[in-house]
Amino acid sequence: LDKINIAIDGPAGAGKSTVARKVAKELTYVYVDTGAMYRAVTWFMLGHDISSDETDRVIHAMRELHIELIPGEECQQVIVNGEDVTDYIRANHISKNVSSYAKIGPLRTKLVEMQRNIASSKGVVMDGRDIGTHVLPQAELKIFLTASVEERAIRRYQEIKDNQQVTLEQLMHDIAERDRQDEQREISPLVCAEDAIRLDTTSMNIEEVVNQIISYCRTIT
Ligand code: C5P
Repeated sequence: LDKINIAIDGPAGAGKSTVARKVAKELTYVYVDTGAMYRAVTWFMLGHDISSDETDRVIHAMRELHIELIPGEECQQVIVNGEDVTDYIRANHISKNVSSYAKIGPLRTKLVEMQRNIASSKGVVMDGRDIGTHVLPQAELKIFLTASVEERAIRRYQEIKDNQQVTLEQLMHDIAERDRQDEQREISPLVCAEDAIRLDTTSMNIEEVVNQIISYCRTIT
């Protein structure tokens, strides 16, 4: 069977990474979480006190930054200049800042180049915001995952409610704000590709979404 590339895009918290990981496992494909790359850059810049307004400094610092992605069963490990940052990049302050760095053109160019390299031998499930529209416009299967803001905030809340530092309302606000920034940026904004299949997961569980995608995949391979 010939391997294909699968692009999964959509707004924050639509379940892209969970779904993409499970689809990859099912097909024995490689799962690539591109959001983790933007998060890794954000972690690095914040740690070096480089704000997203200082575009020149950001671009300069990108030269000193080496990101490695190590695919794993449960999650993809992210290594920045030799340091495993997998756990740090999920922190709330990273989520809040990542969209303002992700606007910077040359930063995106560098990450997109890495993403295309990884996908060049096919057999990847890549999730992000611009995979179907920009990174892999030739991907054989493109999915655009959505769900209502309320539903996405509830899912996120259930994941993190044990540390109770944030309210459901706050989460809804943060998610909506991140969507707004990602949809309105000039370069590769979050938008559904013309040839993508739109899947509203508001009333679907993960297994249903995964099975649906696998069945689309079977029709073309
Ligand atoms: O997918 P995740 O929520 O981890 O993505 C974090 C942020 O990284 C997004 O809100 C967006 O600003 C940026 N991103 C992007 N392009 C991608 C993936 C993520 O701009 N392909």
